[in-house]
Amino acid sequence: MSFSRCIGSSVYAVGALDWSRRLFDELIPLPDGTSYNAYLIQGSEKTVLIDSVDPACYHQLKTNLQALSIERIDYIISQHAEQDHSGSIPFLLQAFPMAKVVTNPKCKDLLMAFHHLPESVFITIQTNETLSLGNKTLQFFFTPWVHWPDTMCTYLQEDHILFTCDLFGSHIASSELFSNDPCKLLSAGRRYYAEIMMPFRSVIASNLNQLSSLPFDIIAPSHGPVQSDKSVLWNAYLEWISDKVHNKVVLPYVSMHESTKLMVDHLVNRLVQKNVAVDVFDLPKTDVGELASSVVDAATVILGAPFMLAGAHPVAAYAAYLVNALRPKIKWFGIIGSFGWGGKMTDQITSLLGNMKSVEILEPVLEKGAPTHSTFQNLDALAETIATYHSQNTVSL
Ligand code: FEO
Repeated sequence: MSFSRCIGSSVYAVGALDWSRRLFDELIPLPDGTSYNAYLIQGSEKTVLIDSVDPACYHQLKTNLQALSIERIDYIISQHAEQDHSGSIPFLLQAFPMAKVVTNPKCKDLLMAFHHLPESVFITIQTNETLSLGNKTLQFFFTPWVHWPDTMCTYLQEDHILFTCDLFGSHIASSELFSNDPCKLLSAGRRYYAEIMMPFRSVIASNLNQLSSLPFDIIAPSHGPVQSDKSVLWNAYLEWISDKVHNKVVLPYVSMHESTKLMVDHLVNRLVQKNVAVDVFDLPKTDVGELASSVVDAATVILGAPFMLAGAHPVAAYAAYLVNALRPKIKWFGIIGSFGWGGKMTDQITSLLGNMKSVEILEPVLEKGAPTHSTFQNLDALAETIATYHSQNTVSL
């Protein structure tokens, strides 16, 4: 599907819908596909394209520009060098050789490395700098680490539209240009935040502070629907990046011969009896995007892992590595599981949590073979500890 659509006066969405993509970065599942949004702005003197599209979808962008009879692009604003937004810039420069790529110094450096573009095609700008299109004015705001150090946002002053690239994005391919389903936007936006933004939680606040003074009415991200209700994801981000955690345990596990599964089931029952919410993920069958989304505001992660070849089951180790990479704001981490002849799982797993130095490691519950009465007593004690900690340190769901 390809067509351009108006989101404001002489402002058009000309990007691409990728209905069938099911994996991003060869890691993140995309159950709803995604979009690579690009926006064309026709000023009285200059025409600008904000971001491009994944190179595999350039034909959609090209068709959309042709449908608007665009014969000249003066500036290509590159808000972020990752290839899903910059990958078609080389094609655009061939089609519109007069165009200049307008970006910040960090993004320019990456674009030159990724696409071997000559320095002569760039105009570098500084934060707060403006660019006149005649009757319209763009203003640039450096917003590093949403998603990479090069990321920036662009404000169209006269139309009160804030172009945010990855920030406030969602992986949704939809025929609807504007979001008209806040629940769907919130769900997809949360999952996207977990996968893309959560590792940079601590620096997002300063970026939101910077942008909050702008009188924008519309958020136009480079993934997912345009948002005329700017409060849905904005307010959700404020909650997600806060230090508040919910009375919830996330429990990813893997079990080979049911012993670890019996321990997981017992702990879940005890936690629920103590009014602690639990999200359980059977790791070999889990969509890691759902796991990431669940851990956004959880207080505790308990990893259920059997020993395998004298160490943690590799799938469990992967989950620990992933949680560490995503840097959620959890306060406690624990390990439960069964072993046969021994090993060093606790040290092995905790060594994977180097990014989470403020997280308290709970006393592990590990058992040789099938769980016994004493195993279940230890799990009861673990549930009691978690419930006590949560009652003093969490907010209600
Ligand atoms: Fe959508 Fe960081 O690229």
